[in-house]
Amino acid sequence: MSLSVNEHLWGEGIPEINDIEKICWQMLHDGATNRKSVMHQAVIATAVDSVAHMRTVVLRRVDVDTKKIYLHTDMRSKKMDDLYQTNHLSWLVYDQSQRTQIRLGGKIIIHHLDDLCIEHWGKTGHHSRRYYMTDQPPTTELNQTSTGLNEALTAFDYTLEESEAGFQNFVVVETCIDWMEWYYTHSKGNRRARFTYHENKLSSSSWLMP
Ligand SMILES: Cc1cc2nc3c(=O)[nH]c(=O)nc-3n(C[C@H](O)[C@H](O)[C@H](O)COP(=O)(O)O)c2cc1C
Repeated sequence: MSLSVNEHLWGEGIPEINDIEKICWQMLHDGATNRKSVMHQAVIATAVDSVAHMRTVVLRRVDVDTKKIYLHTDMRSKKMDDLYQTNHLSWLVYDQSQRTQIRLGGKIIIHHLDDLCIEHWGKTGHHSRRYYMTDQPPTTELNQTSTGLNEALTAFDYTLEESEAGFQNFVVVETCIDWMEWYYTHSKGNRRARFTYHENKLSSSSWLMP
């Protein structure tokens, strides 16, 4: 989706609520497939013991038909502890050029060493595999600043075959979206809408007081 800074997806008049829902999914899909999209990165949040934890991830895949979105992470990371506890993930993306925020969330399915993982792992490049190959897990405290990579990993001095060792640490997290909110800011007034989903289908659409 390439729009100039002053062009807006939502048009001049009062937007149709169902069009908004569709465009939000198009934007998310574009985020996953277009590395240059500002929505290629998203913020995900987990909440454990009443404390929220947020972090940036790459939006890896969006299935518009089934309302599912996906990220990749390391099995050994802290967020996996959170996800095993809560089974839920909240997402946030913001496109300043469209003055549009999309928030969404739902229950998750963790894929580890399964067919979906094999499919996603097969599409990861040689270069992006190295952090799954480290001996030290994410969040290990270091004595001094360091990338945490050994010489071979730093120099990409490993074969694609050798990089298969990282597969055991590779996780695909699938979020089955059950709600989504659109928020659009404009000098003439902001707009907001909420959508809910039941069994992968849109089940309600409502305008909200911004
Ligand atoms: C631009 C950017 C993209 C990132 N993408 C990912 C990602 O796709 N998956 C991931 O696990 N961490 C990613 N990170 C790192 C996370 O934001 C986070 O710091 C890390 O995963 C540790 O989080 P945790 O301790 O909550 O598990 C990314 C960071 C940045 C700045």
